[in-house]
Amino acid sequence: MAVIAIAGRKGGIGKSTIAGNLAAEFDAMGHSVALLDADPQHSLAAWASQGEGLLSRCVQKVEPGDTDDMKAKVRAASKSADIVLIDTPPGMPEIAYQAALVADLALLPCGPSPLDLFPLKDALNLALKARAQRRAKKPRIRFVPSKVLMNTNLGRNLTSSLESMGKKVLSGIGQRIVVAEAVSAGLTVREYAPNSSAEAEFAKLAREVLKVASR
Ligand SMILES: Nc1ncnc2c1ncn2[C@@H]1O[C@H](COP(=O)(O)OP(=O)(O)OP(=O)(O)O)[C@@H](O)[C@H]1O
Ligand SMILES: [Mg+2]
Repeated sequence: MAVIAIAGRKGGIGKSTIAGNLAAEFDAMGHSVALLDADPQHSLAAWASQGEGLLSRCVQKVEPGDTDDMKAKVRAASKSADIVLIDTPPGMPEIAYQAALVADLALLPCGPSPLDLFPLKDALNLALKARAQRRAKKPRIRFVPSKVLMNTNLGRNLTSSLESMGKKVLSGIGQRIVVAEAVSAGLTVREYAPNSSAEAEFAKLAREVLKVASR
């Protein structure tokens, strides 16, 4: 059983996209997955409602009033799932903090712009604060390069910029049209374009995430 929170102060950098697509990869690896949509925007629920794929079966809305009781929510979800993913909103640090207090692993996606690095520091501090509060090595913390422009200097420099912030960096996810198209279809990339480069990236990331989260 692993609990994975996806967090970040910056809006639109791919948190929900990564959460949804990781769910599909874990499902394909034979795990049962619950995806807690703790963002009041409910992007994951909206994505799921566009189609009848995996997300329509594993997304559960968590309303802002319920996030004080994140532990109970996770416990309830884990009755039927061996991996619980929690998607958190950009502008409400208290929700991300509640998720970090119960997570084994906090994934902090970062977009390709140098400006994306500043809000990432806030997200890192929040995860470290949760760790101090728990007096534990959890959540483990990993950065995930997101919406990376492949074969550009900006893309190449992102990983080294992230490494210089002192936490390990997992495999990145490229900016690819198929990722956005899958959302319009209400599907994950694995369902929409199973043999695509984008799917291979999410699969690689999922293997790395599980390795860290289940340690
Ligand atoms: N790798 C990608 N390639 C192409 N488009 C992407 C990729 N990742 C995300 N997007 C698109 O970028 C937009 C924002 O993505 P997403 O909603 O996942 O970000 P977010 O960080 O969860 O946003 P918010 O902070 O508002 O919750 C969406 O339109 C999504 O389809
Ligand atoms: Mg989101």
